[in-house]
Amino acid sequence: MIVALDYPGAQDALDMATRLSPELCRLKVGKELFTRAGPALVEQLQAQGFEIFLDLKFHDIPNTVAGAVRAAADLGVWMINVHAGGGRRMMEAAREAVDAGTHRPLLIGVTVLTSLSDADLAELGYAETAAQRVTRLAALAADSGLDGVVCSAQEAATLRAQRGDAFKLVTPGIRLAGDAAGDQRRVLTPGQALALGADYLVVGRSVTAAPDPLDALQRVRAELAA
Ligand code: C5P
Repeated sequence: MIVALDYPGAQDALDMATRLSPELCRLKVGKELFTRAGPALVEQLQAQGFEIFLDLKFHDIPNTVAGAVRAAADLGVWMINVHAGGGRRMMEAAREAVDAGTHRPLLIGVTVLTSLSDADLAELGYAETAAQRVTRLAALAADSGLDGVVCSAQEAATLRAQRGDAFKLVTPGIRLAGDAAGDQRRVLTPGQALALGADYLVVGRSVTAAPDPLDALQRVRAELAA
């Protein structure tokens, strides 16, 4: 379980971390929080025992992405990601950069942003539907040596069948039964996502907006165990 720390600043993130437990979850630090609080926050969270998914979705020319990936790996984080749409040479450069380091985070690809509809993709000049493009980019990510992809739980079953057991599937859009979906369009419970083949669940507000976040985490654990 990966709890998304979607906060505008370090103090909110650190306050939430103290209400969680590294035994029960890892933490995701994304673009807003990292841009404000930077490597120092990542180091503070790691000092509290948490493993970190640094969700910066790198997308640039291969040389630049390789440098960014090296810098992220040097922070000692557990998982990092790049946009699969950056292409084979970009992903291979990222793979080489991780493998050349002493600390090797999991290297994950982002296929199609879930905010993009088929109509958005058509406007961008892509002839494929989002589902077709997810399949294509996941295959390219695997072929380029990435450890897995971020995908919706709905895509997990297909990708699990296509890519086999070792390919990591990281799935957001998780809600505990009874929680509000908020801005997410398609949500599944933790148990449903696991049954569809997810390896790691990204859970944000179902945990962080709960009156007792630790209790919410334990409820997710209980659901997964069941
Ligand atoms: O609060 P909630 O559980 O919706 O948070 C989900 C987290 O996963 C957020 O950090 C969001 O940016 C991220 N995410 C997502 N959908 C994607 C990729 C990442 O919701 N396709």
